[in-house]
Amino acid sequence: MGTSERIREKENRAVSISVTVNGEHKQVDVDPTIRLVDILRDEWNLTGTKISCGIGRCGACSVMINGALVNSCLVMAYQVDEAIITTVEGLSTQEDIDPVQQAFLEEGGYQCGYCTPGMVMAVKALLQETPNPTETQIKTALSGNLCRCTGYGGIIRAVQRVVAQT
Ligand code: FES
Ligand code: FES
Repeated sequence: MGTSERIREKENRAVSISVTVNGEHKQVDVDPTIRLVDILRDEWNLTGTKISCGIGRCGACSVMINGALVNSCLVMAYQVDEAIITTVEGLSTQEDIDPVQQAFLEEGGYQCGYCTPGMVMAVKALLQETPNPTETQIKTALSGNLCRCTGYGGIIRAVQRVVAQT
């Protein structure tokens, strides 16, 4: 076998990962070239996490890895071995939706809704660090999340509503 074939074989070898997603333990063999966003959506049907730009510019694919907000289109699946991941599906139960999601509903923080899961995850990350953010802090925290529809007014009001209620 030639060097290039050996390299190709190595690149194609599946990597076994063990990960906790929304409180559920999962073990899976992943191709080294597969992104986290792809296994979330295609392997585990967690399609709340969206793909828009695919290159880390829009925030639609935002999830939490070990409590930190990340763009899951920029993370390879093999990198999350042993990690704890929360997607937008992990915020709600059958009975209750998350207060941030409720506030988006009440303040009209969405239109098409495509950006909404990523926005909600970004707001959760913000409030974790800064429970009482100023409007400027809210805008800064959401600056990595693009919305084509709302003009952001409803989104900012939604964050302010959650803050006022807590
Ligand atoms: S799809 Fe990941 S940042 Fe846009
Ligand atoms: S509500 Fe449509 S992209 Fe934000």
